[in-house]
Amino acid sequence: MKPLILLIFINIALFSSGLKKDVPLVTNEIYTNECGSCHFAYFPGLLPQNSWEKLMSGLDNHFGDDASVDEQTFQTLSKFLNDNSAEKNMNYKRSRKIVKSIAKDEVYIAISKTPYIHKKHKKIRKDLITQKEVKGLFNCTACHKSAKKAIFNDDDVNIPNYGKWED
Ligand code: HEC
Ligand code: HEC
Repeated sequence: MKPLILLIFINIALFSSGLKKDVPLVTNEIYTNECGSCHFAYFPGLLPQNSWEKLMSGLDNHFGDDASVDEQTFQTLSKFLNDNSAEKNMNYKRSRKIVKSIAKDEVYIAISKTPYIHKKHKKIRKDLITQKEVKGLFNCTACHKSAKKAIFNDDDVNIPNYGKWED
């Protein structure tokens, strides 16, 4: 085999077999504008499709807020979320762990309440989560400094008024 072909072959093999980190880094301008105005625009790979469908069907009462959008925007957002949802990205470590942690008959609309994400944050002191600089676990970017790059590794955590997380 010629070196170049060999190289391409190795890359494809790595790409298709290896478990990738965290969740896919995907963006959509309409999504960022509509769903990133009150909080971080959560990556679709953080919840399975049935969660996104349930969340989208209740936008007029979205955690007590009205987050409703017009029909065309609704279709665009739903497609973006469903196309990139967690169970379609089982080769990404966190998407996979989130999906696997959810029982068949359960549908979560809060990422922070899914068993995997909930468990990962159990060791954090409650007052560090409720403090005004964070407000709640929903506020991923307050602690995960690279969350916007879809990196949720604990090495990149820096909690306000506490500092870097040493496990
Ligand atoms: C008007 C403000 C507003 C808009 C717009 C909005 N949200 Fe929210 N969202 C909230 C509030 C408030 C919460 C609850 C935060 C808390 O737990 O206190 C929330 C929570 C969430 C959560 C759960 C976070 C967690 O894991 O705890 C998800 C997922 C979410 N929103 C997705 C979306 C999506 C998708 C859109 C766009 C269709 C959107 N949001 C638009 C206000 C908004
Ligand atoms: C109060 C700060 C804080 C907030 C808010 C927060 N996290 Fe975390 N997160 C942490 C800490 C600290 C750890 C490491 C915990 C440990 O190792 O015991 C962690 C761990 C994780 C992990 C596992 C990382 C690893 O290397 O094992 C994931 C995935 C994660 N968080 C995702 C999220 C998401 C998604 C959100 C928002 C819905 C969020 N976190 C909100 C502090 C936070």
